[in-house]
Parts: sequence; structure tokens; C-alpha cells
Amino acid sequence: LSGSGKSTIAVALEKVLMQRGKHAYRLDGDNIRHGLNKNLGFSAEDRAENIRRIGEVAKLFADAGMLAVSSFISPYRADRDGVRKLHDDAKLAFIEVYIDCPLEEAEKRDPKGLYKKARAGQIKGFTGIDDPYEAPLKPELVIKNGECTPQQAAAQVIQYLESRGLLRAAK
Ligand code: ADX
Repeated sequence: LSGSGKSTIAVALEKVLMQRGKHAYRLDGDNIRHGLNKNLGFSAEDRAENIRRIGEVAKLFADAGMLAVSSFISPYRADRDGVRKLHDDAKLAFIEVYIDCPLEEAEKRDPKGLYKKARAGQIKGFTGIDDPYEAPLKPELVIKNGECTPQQAAAQVIQYLESRGLLRAAK
């Protein structure tokens, strides 16, 4: 969800990865929606295209040997599954991390004041308000946000990557 803390966690994660000498690149709404995807809005069609392009970019980074840390709402299951398949077909690891934050909590934080606008009808089709959010059915990792700090959340991701052997030094 918007305000779930995904970007803050991604920043914390990138920091740890860098400290460990891992090449990581963070993709999020700020650098993608203002550049590559600036011609896209928030209709179902545009959200699908947003995620499809992000998936292709993440795949290129992974193909170049980097960890692509992507923090997006990505509200539709089918779009996420499409990106998963893209990586599976290329034999690249795809790790879906569900930042499980109750709507009430995200709305209470409302860091950009967008929920307020959505409730007032000034933004139409806002995820969680009048546009669906389809929670993952089988994510690799679930982070209960609201119950931990961004650093603790990042540590959970690191632990998972380690368990999969994805942080080993390249031979
Ligand atoms: S996605 O749904 O297309 O995957 P993305 O993560 O790229 O979303 O962008 C979501 C961000 O755009 C939100 O965090 C919020 O700041 C902003 N935003 C603007 N309009 C909307 C909307 N209608 N629904 C959700 N987020 C919106």
C-alpha cells in the first residue's frame, strides 16, 4: 500500500547490501514514474504496463549481476506473476516481499497526504480506497510492518537472501 513503508525499507536494505560490498540498485516510483514511465497513470492498464516495464528493467539489472531492489505497490496479482515468470524463464531469482501493513496504519501515517485526498474524492482510483490491492498468496517473504523498524525489516530480507545463498561472493 501507499505509506506501507516499502521505500524506507528498500533504502535501509540497499544500505546494508552496499556495506557488504554487494551491487544493488533501487527501483521505485520516484525514479521510474518520473522518467521511464512518465507517460503512465493509475488506470488498471497503466499500472499493468508500469509493472511490466519495471520487471523488464529489474531483469536487466539482475542479468548484469546486480540485486534489483524494487519497491512498488504493484496491486494486481497477475502483473506480479508476469514478472515472476519473466525471471523464472531467465533462471534469475525473483523474491516477492509482501509489506503487510494494515490500511488503517498506512492511512494514519499518510506521509504524502494522498489518503486524505482520496477520501475527499480528489484522487480517484486510489489503491486500498477505491482501487483494489490483491495481497500476494505465496510471497517468499512477509514483513509485518508496524511491528518492526525499517532496519529490522531490512535484516529479515538479508537473512532470507543469505538462506537462499544469494549473498555469497561470486567465484
Ligand atoms: S502501481 O500501482 O502502479 O504499482 P507505484 O508504486 O508505481 O504504483 O506508484 C504508487 C505511488 O504513486 C503511491 O505511493 C502514491 O504516492 C502515488 N499515487 C498517485 N496516485 C495514486 C493512485 N491512484 N493509487 C495509488 N498510488 C497513487
